Amino acid sequence: MSADTTTEAPEFPLSRGCPFAPPETATAFRDAGAPRRVTIWNGSRPWLITRHDQIQQVLGPGGRFGADVTHPGFPNTSSAQPHVEGGIFFRKDGDEHLPIRRILNPDFTAKASETLRPRIAELTEQLLDELPAKGQPLDLIEEFALALPTVVICEVLGVPLDQRHAVHEASKKVVQLSLPPEEKLAAFQELAENIHRTMAAKRDQPDDGLLSRLVNTWVDEKCVLTFEDAVNLGVLVIGAGHETTANMIGLGILAFLREPEQRDTLLSDPQKYAPTAVEEMMRYWSMVQTEPRRLCLQDTEIGGVLIKAGEGVICNLPAANRDPAVFADPERLDITRTERRHIGFGFGVHQCLGQNLSRVEMQEAWPRLFRRFPTLRLAVAESELHFHDDALTYGLEELPVTW
Ligand code: HEM
Repeated sequence: MSADTTTEAPEFPLSRGCPFAPPETATAFRDAGAPRRVTIWNGSRPWLITRHDQIQQVLGPGGRFGADVTHPGFPNTSSAQPHVEGGIFFRKDGDEHLPIRRILNPDFTAKASETLRPRIAELTEQLLDELPAKGQPLDLIEEFALALPTVVICEVLGVPLDQRHAVHEASKKVVQLSLPPEEKLAAFQELAENIHRTMAAKRDQPDDGLLSRLVNTWVDEKCVLTFEDAVNLGVLVIGAGHETTANMIGLGILAFLREPEQRDTLLSDPQKYAPTAVEEMMRYWSMVQTEPRRLCLQDTEIGGVLIKAGEGVICNLPAANRDPAVFADPERLDITRTERRHIGFGFGVHQCLGQNLSRVEMQEAWPRLFRRFPTLRLAVAESELHFHDDALTYGLEELPVTW
C-alpha cells in the first residue's frame, strides 16, 4: 500500500474532449484502478476518485470523509467557497447536517413530488403552447429547459414570479467556476438579499410555500432555525433546484435529437419509458462534474492507496457512471436499460434532496415536447453547440432548434 502512486497530477477541473463522454483523463484513471492526484486552483493536490465502488466507499457510511468546506485542507472550488457555503447544512456533517435535512425532506419525498406532477404537466404544456409564437430558430434552453424548473422551484418555495429572472441570473453566477471570487460573492449576496426580502414578507402574508413554512414554523414557532439559517436554506434550494434540472432537460433533448430511435422508444410508451429514460440520461450525461468533494478524516485505504486524514478527495461521477464494472456497454445510450445504480444524484447521506422533483420534471418535459413537435431538429450543426465545461454542472449554453 503506498501513499501516492504518481507525482503526476493533472489540473482539475478536467475538460471533456468529446462532449458526449466523460473527460478522458478521468476514464483513464478509472481504468487504471487506483485513486490519482489532481492539482486544483490553489496548488493543492487532492485525490480524484473515478471508480463506482470507490466513490461509494467515500460517500457511504463510516464517517471517514467529511463535507465541511471550512475544514483546513478541504478541496474547495475557490477561495470564496468557505465564505459562500460555510454556513449551509449541505457542507456540514453529522448533527450540523442531518437535523436540517430532516426539515426539508418532507417537501421532496417521492410522494410529495408525485403530488406536483399534474401542475408540472400543466406548466410544461403552457410553455409548449407559447413556443410557436416565439419564432424559429428558437433557443430551447432559455424558453423551455430553464423556464420549466425555474417556475417549478419558484412555486415550491413561494418566490414571486417577477423575481424569477433576477434569481436565476444570480444563482447561475454562484455555480460558475471561472468567475472571480468577488463576483461570485456579490452574486450570492444578491440572491440572499432577494430571499431575505421574500421571506420577511411571508411573516405578514403566509402561504403554503417552503419559504413561508421555514420562517413561520421553523424560525418563529419552533425556534429551531435562525432567520439567517432559513434564508441560506432558501438560497441553497433555489440555486440547486433549477440550474441542475435545466441542464439535464437540455442535454436530454439533445440526446433524443441525436438518437431518434431512443425518442421513438420513449414516445411508444411514455408511462413505461420516461422513468427509465431519466435514469439513463442521468447516467449518460452525469452532469455534476466537479463534485462531490470531501476531506479525509481518518486514514483510509481506497483502491490500494492510503488516503491520509487531512487530504482532499474529489469524486468524478461521469467516469463512475460509465464504469464497465457496473454498466454493460457503458458508452451506449439505452433508455430501456434497467440497471439503475447510477450515482448521478450522489450517494450516501448527502444524496440529492431534490432528485424526485427533478425526475418528475424530466419525465413530463421530454415526451410532451417530442409529442407536440414531432419534427423538432437542431437549427445549427452539432459542432456549433457550446457546452459549458467550466461550471459545477455540465450543460448547453444554447440549444437552437427548428421544426
Ligand atoms: C438533475 C438535477 C439534479 C442533479 C444532477 C443533482 C445532483 C446532486 C448531487 C450529485 C448531490 C450530492 C452532492 C454531494 O454529495 O456533495 C446533490 C445534493 C443536493 N441537491 Fe441536487 N441535483 C439535482 C436537482 C436538485 C433539485 C431540483 C434540488 C432542490 C429542490 C436539489 C437540491 C439539492 C440539495 C439541497 C443537496 C444537498 C443535500 C445534502 O447535503 O443533504 N438538487 N444534488
